[in-house]
Amino acid sequence: MRPSLALFALSLTAGPAVAQFPPDSTENLQVLPKDTPVREVINTMRGFAIGLGVRCEHCHIGEAGEPLSTFDFVSDDMPAKDKAREMLRMVQQINGKWLAELPKRGTPAVEVQCVTCHRGQARPFMMEDLLAHVADSAGADAAVVRYRELRERFYGGFTYDFGPAPVISAAVSRLRAGSAPDALTLLALNAEYHPGDGPSAMVRGQAHLAVGDTTAAITQLERALELQPDNPQARRLLIRLKGGG
Ligand code: HEC
Ligand code: HEC
Repeated sequence: MRPSLALFALSLTAGPAVAQFPPDSTENLQVLPKDTPVREVINTMRGFAIGLGVRCEHCHIGEAGEPLSTFDFVSDDMPAKDKAREMLRMVQQINGKWLAELPKRGTPAVEVQCVTCHRGQARPFMMEDLLAHVADSAGADAAVVRYRELRERFYGGFTYDFGPAPVISAAVSRLRAGSAPDALTLLALNAEYHPGDGPSAMVRGQAHLAVGDTTAAITQLERALELQPDNPQARRLLIRLKGGG
């Protein structure tokens, strides 16, 4: 690419000394329209940062905590910047093509934004997938540690679901993989944070059963039935365990 006159003039003077924020103009827009006003570009950037829960230095060269005038926003040396360009193209396609051409689209139209998927994280994991992945690669105890760290930082926000369902889902996947002890380790989280959740007690009962602890299984299944009297699965299992059927 041929350097613009402005860039050429800048390069003749002492680099950082002339840097300012916000800049007078942009030099290297490849996806956003080149004539986008600087203020609008920066607003878009704030949307990126909030959407991904990161700061400018995730995608631009610069030191955390230093003034933005010391950043090099023109450079493409940060890999995340190129990824963000691809993402921007994708979002433009989704809104401009796929959603725009959706038959009988609802009103008001819902537009996809970075935050729609990212919900304040750079790689938009769902809690259940993250737990299953950590349990798989580093063990259930590590998954519990990670859960507590995330809860400390994100509880009350919209980034992760701290309800009972993701832990159940990760525990069931450990159970299916033949790791009932891991499932129990994970389910202890729900016993602590969601003691009144019937489905959690139900799955705990199944996990106890899988490790051969019938007494603990019965306790949990009775608890599940107490919390959810219309749970036929818990009822059947209990009857079988107590030798009534
Ligand atoms: C998720 C990645 C990401 C984050 C975070 C981000 N940016 Fe950007 N930024 C980009 C991308 C991608 C472009 C280029 C867009 C294009 O090619 O159309 C860009 C371009 C810019 C430009 C224009 C540079 C030029 O002259 O071409 C400025 C200024 C800028 N960003 C400032 C910021 C500021 C300030 C922040 C923090 C509030 C920020 N950016 C956070 C990805 C990011
Ligand atoms: C349809 C869902 C979706 C939307 C909308 C979306 N992203 Fe992403 N983005 C993803 C997924 C999924 C990943 C993780 C890919 C991977 O690494 O496995 C990702 C990864 C990224 C990464 C790389 C993160 C890293 O550190 O490795 C950046 C940067 C990024 N997205 C920026 C953006 C920006 C900026 C927008 C809005 C313009 C956006 N994304 C919109 C789904 C989305």
